[in-house]
Amino acid sequence: MGTAAAAHLPVMRDRVLELLAPALRPPGAVVVDATLGRAGHASALLAAHPDLSLIGIDADATAITESRLTLERFDGRFTLVQAVYDELPRILAEAGLPEVQGILFDLGVSSPQLDDPVRGFAYSQDAPLDMRMNQAAPLTAADVLNTYSAADLARVLRDYGEERFARRIADAVVAERAHSPLTSTARLAEIVRASIPAPARRTGGNPAKRTFQALRIEVNGELGALRRALPAALDAIAVGGRIVTLAYHSLEDRTVKRELAARSTDTTPPGLPVSLESARPQFRLLTRGAEQPGPEELAANPRSAPARLRAAERMRAAA
Ligand SMILES: C[S@@+](CC[C@H](N)C(=O)[O-])C[C@H]1O[C@@H](n2cnc3c(N)ncnc32)[C@H](O)[C@@H]1O
Repeated sequence: MGTAAAAHLPVMRDRVLELLAPALRPPGAVVVDATLGRAGHASALLAAHPDLSLIGIDADATAITESRLTLERFDGRFTLVQAVYDELPRILAEAGLPEVQGILFDLGVSSPQLDDPVRGFAYSQDAPLDMRMNQAAPLTAADVLNTYSAADLARVLRDYGEERFARRIADAVVAERAHSPLTSTARLAEIVRASIPAPARRTGGNPAKRTFQALRIEVNGELGALRRALPAALDAIAVGGRIVTLAYHSLEDRTVKRELAARSTDTTPPGLPVSLESARPQFRLLTRGAEQPGPEELAANPRSAPARLRAAERMRAAA
């Protein structure tokens, strides 16, 4: 999602660079790329700021291996860690960094993950039902589909896929697995299609899209990790430091929006004549609502279409 299929173009790269630049200019600045992917944003950041050091995190071992090659020319200026990004406090403590000047989250799946036929992220090609970002993690999409109760499956599809026909799809999966376990993405896409009433199939793109998104979020615990990681990331940002996030579906974007709004609001109880020092906002928002890719980027990289960018700057230390 975050990069184009052919060229792996980092989404909204110039805007990300522009928003982070004031925080990353001072000598000795450190930026965390919490979702390294193929290091598209990371290499642009290191190239733009010759004094900058980078910590790159990704749950996917292949992302780390490939990025190490991509970043070779910046040798000595980066540390890469295979981890879930909610491990940020431990990673910063091990690096001896109480605070950093910038943090980037480019959420979701990368184009190489979507395009790799064995990973099972895409409904457009047949593959084993895997969908793990960390391929050593225990839970696969096949485990979810073959072991969850119909009620739990329906909850996953409704909550994480915003799927209107969640219960019908869940019942069809349970009926299918009574004969033999589900193993292939193509079969799952067929089951979803057959479970959705014909008029609904004609709108909103491939009907399997929402089910695949929901399973991916469940398999990787994505929203839980994001809810834990965001407060930790904001806590780690130095005064004058900045955070930029790119979200690709409304659940992610809502989570980011809420956390940034909470940190950039004055919490002085109503009725007091002046704001309390301790209740003044720690952050200021740098974007009005969420920014989206422009027409040129959409034409060059249609996968950037769902992107919603938000950014904020720390104004003062925590009380
Ligand atoms: C959209 S891609 C990032 C692309 C990157 N900005 C680039 O320019 O190449 C998202 C990456 O985040 C990783 N990721 C997703 N959720 C994660 C999590 N909870 N912890 C660590 N990495 C995660 C994925 O494995 C994927 O490689």
